[in-house]
Amino acid sequence: MKIAILNGSPRKENTTAMVEAFAEGAKAAGHEVEILHVGKMKINGCLGCEYCHTKGEGKCVQKDDMEKVMPAYLDSDMVVFASPIYYFGMTAQIMAAIQRVYCIGKPAKATKAALLLSSGSPNPYDGAIGTFNSYCAYTGIENVGIYTAAGEENKSEAKLAEIREFAGKL
Ligand SMILES: Cc1cc2nc3c(=O)[nH]c(=O)nc-3n(C[C@H](O)[C@H](O)[C@H](O)COP(=O)(O)O)c2cc1C
Repeated sequence: MKIAILNGSPRKENTTAMVEAFAEGAKAAGHEVEILHVGKMKINGCLGCEYCHTKGEGKCVQKDDMEKVMPAYLDSDMVVFASPIYYFGMTAQIMAAIQRVYCIGKPAKATKAALLLSSGSPNPYDGAIGTFNSYCAYTGIENVGIYTAAGEENKSEAKLAEIREFAGKL
């Protein structure tokens, strides 16, 4: 399976450790993994201009790092969203990337999705999980797992092993 991971963290710390554990497990099981560090990219929010649905024929009018993300996203059998919690939701950077997929509606091939979330405090996940569940319901992609790490759980070997094992069984 081809797996595209969108990492919404702007830094290489807690969320990225979860992403790397997932990638290790998935690669060991023979999957092809591409990590897109959207948290570090320059991706503007959707303009809502409808160029993509009219003259653009599926292409966005904005030329930015979304052009690096789209090919992997479109070609993936599975998408993984990974993000720290910023004010009760996923980061603005990953939300911009998710919303820019408006130009193609739904990723054509993907049948599975998972969510990795990191936070400072326990259980601030309702907003991010609600968004993810709605995304899955809208796209028809199956939610195959949600993993969270709060406070001390971040970068803990127990949490990373759990994620590695999950990805290894996909
Ligand atoms: C702007 C900002 C907002 C945050 N908001 C929350 C929050 O609402 N709830 C929470 O538990 N942690 C919050 N945090 C803490 C991060 O979610 C936490 O430190 C996380 O592990 C960071 O992941 P990273 O190392 O991948 O950046 C916030 C951090 C930042 C920088």
